[in-house]
Order: sequence, then C-alpha cells, then structure tokens
Amino acid sequence: MDLNEALYTTRAMRRVSSDPIADDVVRAMMDAAIRSPSGGNTQNWRWVTVTDRSKIDRLAVLYSDAWAELNATLYKGRAETAKATGDETTVRVLNSAQWLADNFEKVPLVVFPFHRNDPSGASIYPGVWSLMLAARSHGVGTCLTTVLGMFKHDELCELLGVPPGKGWTNAAAVTAGYPLGKWGLAERAPAHRVTYAEEWGQPPTWTADEPLWGG
Ligand SMILES: Cc1cc2nc3c(=O)[nH]c(=O)nc-3n(C[C@H](O)[C@H](O)[C@H](O)COP(=O)(O)O)c2cc1C
Repeated sequence: MDLNEALYTTRAMRRVSSDPIADDVVRAMMDAAIRSPSGGNTQNWRWVTVTDRSKIDRLAVLYSDAWAELNATLYKGRAETAKATGDETTVRVLNSAQWLADNFEKVPLVVFPFHRNDPSGASIYPGVWSLMLAARSHGVGTCLTTVLGMFKHDELCELLGVPPGKGWTNAAAVTAGYPLGKWGLAERAPAHRVTYAEEWGQPPTWTADEPLWGG
C-alpha cells in the first residue's frame, strides 16, 4: 500500500465486524510496531494481544464503565453542547465512540501496549501508530483508545495478568477488526493554520487548503 494513502486514511475505525484476524496478520502488525523508535532505543515496552472471547467480554464491561465515567466527568455536557451548537463533527465522534462502548465485545482483537521507565511518556506512541498503519495495510481498522487505562487501570492490569509493582503502565487499548464502514480521508484543520514559521504566531509562506494526497 502507498505510504501516503495509509497516512491520510488511517482513521479511528471503531465499527468493525467480529470476524477473527489471522495470527499472521497479528504477527505482521506486531513486527511493524516494534520497528518503531523509542527514546535511547530502550524498547521499554510489552504488548498484550487479546483475542479470547471470554476475556474480551470482561474487557467490554470494563470499557463501558470507563466510558460512562468519562462522560460523567471530563466529557460532562459535551454531547449536549455539541448538539445545541450544531457541532456535527463532535456529535459524530461521540456517536461513534458510544458505538464502541456498546459493542466492545464484538471486537475480534485488542492490543494493549504497556511502557515503563519513560519519563517523557512518548516512546510508546510511535509504535502504536506503526501498529495502526500496519493494520491499515492489511485492511484491518483500528482505534486508539485510552479511556480504559485512565479509569480502570488496576482492573485492566489484573485482568491481563500484568505483574504488579514492576512499573508497567498501560498506554492504550487499540481495538482492531475488519471495517464495517469505508476508509476515508481524515478531515483536519489545515496545516498552515496550526503551523508557525520561525516563531510563534508567524504564518508559514505556504498554505494547504486541500489535502495534498487525494487518492
Ligand atoms: C490519545 C488518544 C486517545 C483516544 N482515546 C479514545 C477513547 O478512549 N475512545 C475512543 O472511542 N476513541 C479514542 N480516540 C480516538 C479519537 O477520538 C480519534 O482518533 C479522533 O476523533 C479522530 O478520528 P478520525 O481519525 O477518524 O478523524 C483516541 C485518540 C487518541 C489519539
């Protein structure tokens, strides 16, 4: 697959079928993930891939509770405000996120990256994104989620058998499966609006109103 196509169309693909993902594809995703850089090349990571249905059922309960907690705290009022102000993008994201919370048990694969001894906290995410790009190249949709680790970290670690007291922290739960929807170009605020040249506040000499890759 063309690199730009993967970069421009790897979206939060939450709605997936429960069709299993073959071990060879999981292997390819993980092999790509661990090629990514980490600070000092420390590779202070472990990855737990979960396909076991009964475990995913238990994770689904945790996920749904975590999502409810997020909505009762950090996201309180967000859906109502988005609806009231006609903010369709946020309404769409929240509906899609709600679908995942309601259907988590259908997801055929969840990958849990763990990291430790990384003061920046940054070393794990290149690998997570590589995992998602590799999945995309195999036609597998993914969604990076963090709500489980935010609200149910201890329960999650216990469920996955993470050894306590060793400093392992969950960075995400990446859901993965074959898409029910279509791949599409990610819509974002244009690059020239969020990029400054030479110093804060100074616009660059270029603009990019339309995406530079269009399929
Ligand atoms: C750090 C991070 C945390 C996220 N956490 C969640 C989450 O807990 N649940 C969820 O459904 N989506 C989560 N997302 C997905 C974002 O909502 C999604 O990437 C964003 O809306 C852009 O979607 P798009 O690429 O399809 O346009 C997370 C994404 C990132 C980068």
